[in-house]
Amino acid sequence: MTHLDHLLAEAIELFNRTDDMTELEQVKARYLGRHGQLTELLKGLGKIPPEERPAVGSRINQAKEALEAALSGRREAIQEKKLEEQLIGEKLDVTLPGRGTGMGGLHPITLALDRIQSLFHSVGFTVASGPEIETDFYNFTALNIPENHPARAMHDTFYVDDENGAGEHLLRTHTSPVQIRYMESNPPPLKVIAPGRVYRCDSDLTHTPMFHQVEGLWIDESANFSALKGILSDFMQHFFERDDLPVRFRPSFFPFTEPSAEMDIGCVMCKTGCRVCSYTGWLEVLGCGMVHPNVFKHVNIDSQKYVGFAFGLGVERLAMLRYGVNDLRLFFENDLRFLKQFN
Ligand code: DAH
Repeated sequence: MTHLDHLLAEAIELFNRTDDMTELEQVKARYLGRHGQLTELLKGLGKIPPEERPAVGSRINQAKEALEAALSGRREAIQEKKLEEQLIGEKLDVTLPGRGTGMGGLHPITLALDRIQSLFHSVGFTVASGPEIETDFYNFTALNIPENHPARAMHDTFYVDDENGAGEHLLRTHTSPVQIRYMESNPPPLKVIAPGRVYRCDSDLTHTPMFHQVEGLWIDESANFSALKGILSDFMQHFFERDDLPVRFRPSFFPFTEPSAEMDIGCVMCKTGCRVCSYTGWLEVLGCGMVHPNVFKHVNIDSQKYVGFAFGLGVERLAMLRYGVNDLRLFFENDLRFLKQFN
């Protein structure tokens, strides 16, 4: 049976010589395939004298097994080598500099809100909040804006349909209802601000349907208009970081304050007049006044004993002035080229 030994040696030698899986399978077919040399030997068993068949058959089978074992050993070796090469090729260089994840930043409105809150916090105001879906009572009636009062029409209210018909709920048009809610559950003296989103059915170059306000309320036994002026003037000077910022208070009307005023600051964009201040040199920044006795009545605070003042300011307006933003819409378009400038 030297032929068989020779065949076996030759096949194993060929297996070991190849490094390629497809080539290996081709070599395998030459010996073990349907017309492979070993297969042919097995097929030829029938021509051998019957008494020799068992011995010859068993030797061929042994050779076949040896070949198969050699084959699977070679397969493993090739795969291992391939994996090794791959690992070397893909070696991770941990000393390379990182790609960096890039830090996010706060939205300019958030920055302005934080700044406003921290300035009022530094003079003793706490922060309150209230619902954005309000009732007619808190948004209007309790603030001395009775039904059919023209001020309701001025507010361009979004009404919310509810089960018992439209009209009872609405999106708050200002943060002033938080005054009422806070006074209902906290006895005076109190000193609080209420920042938050407000909604009006209004959209053009200078108005968005949603914007932010900060409400302020100070109630004790001796609050007065000059304290109101002092607090707000100090606030504006700190907010804009200008000790010499001119301020003025003009008489105005709000149903929930008496007397009422609007506060102007000297234009922070120009010295001689510009489009932002309509060439007047002044910018209107907030509404304020002494809390109306009718408001106290709604929350059972004795207006003979307590006095208070309130104010409400628009956050977008202050943010535009402080950061020199000339288009209100930029705050809401979320264009990263704009937002990244505040990182
Ligand atoms: N709520 C008013 C508005 O949205 C702003 C305002 C004015 C608030 C005077 C006040 C205030 O608290 O005293 O137009």
